[in-house]
Amino acid sequence: MSTTYTLGHEDSEVRRLLLQGRVYYSDTRHALLMAGLKPGMRVLDIGSGPGDVSFLAAELVGPGGQVHGVDAADIVHLARSRAADRGLTNVSFTQSALDELVLDEPVDAVVGRLILMHLPDPVAALRQLAGLVRPGGVVAFCENDIAAVRSYPEIPVFRQVTDAVARSFESLSLDISFGPKLGALFQAAGLGVPRMALGAPLGGADDIDLLRYAAEIWRLVYPRAAQLGLTEGLPDPDEMLPALQREVAAARATIMMPPQITAWAQVR
Ligand SMILES: C[S@@+](CC[C@H](N)C(=O)[O-])C[C@H]1O[C@@H](n2cnc3c(N)ncnc32)[C@H](O)[C@@H]1O
Repeated sequence: MSTTYTLGHEDSEVRRLLLQGRVYYSDTRHALLMAGLKPGMRVLDIGSGPGDVSFLAAELVGPGGQVHGVDAADIVHLARSRAADRGLTNVSFTQSALDELVLDEPVDAVVGRLILMHLPDPVAALRQLAGLVRPGGVVAFCENDIAAVRSYPEIPVFRQVTDAVARSFESLSLDISFGPKLGALFQAAGLGVPRMALGAPLGGADDIDLLRYAAEIWRLVYPRAAQLGLTEGLPDPDEMLPALQREVAAARATIMMPPQITAWAQVR
């Protein structure tokens, strides 16, 4: 099985992915609607993780449509049990690496969130995935721009932790400005100039999911940041949420987590 996913699926990563599902729900929903997901469609969700994008797509395609999530890791078990808890009968999941994926018939849309950035050759992957979509169907991918994270006004602890997260991701060969490159990647894959949308979760001291999400990213990255000598003077993972709540409240600040960029194109 070939996967180059470097963030693992320890409890902290699963917790982060579940929070991510909540924090990016509206932006992802809006983008997938704009991309043309409609009732009755058959949709493939690549790198489905715990299933949030599949669940959202299932809402948009309705009971007459179908969504199939695919992930290389055994996190598909969690996705299946979450689908069962929600009583969703139009969603299924398969554990498979992208390059081993075989379909019986073409789908109406292939979607994915935060998956292309983890692949060694995203252009080849886009080409392969477009080949699974019927002519006139849609390819839509959401990726983020970690380099654009900021707070208004500037909060030193948030800035320093964000910089340490960015450097830790880069040390794992992850591109922290992958989202803005989607336009060029789609064109290199022969999909033409895609349509695009951007959305970013913003909030203040009482947006507990947003602050928790920031703290969970720090928890995930902390061991790597410590190895790189980037944690000195910064809160440890358990102190991060209270520190953020305190500083954001004191400054009456707004923090912006990574903007998510979605690109989509019709398959000719
Ligand atoms: C950052 S997570 C995103 C999960 C989900 N799309 C979401 O937005 O919540 C990326 C997922 O892609 C999966 N993945 C990475 N490389 C893959 C590959 N080559 N084939 C299939 N899945 C892969 C990982 O196992 C991981 O669950």
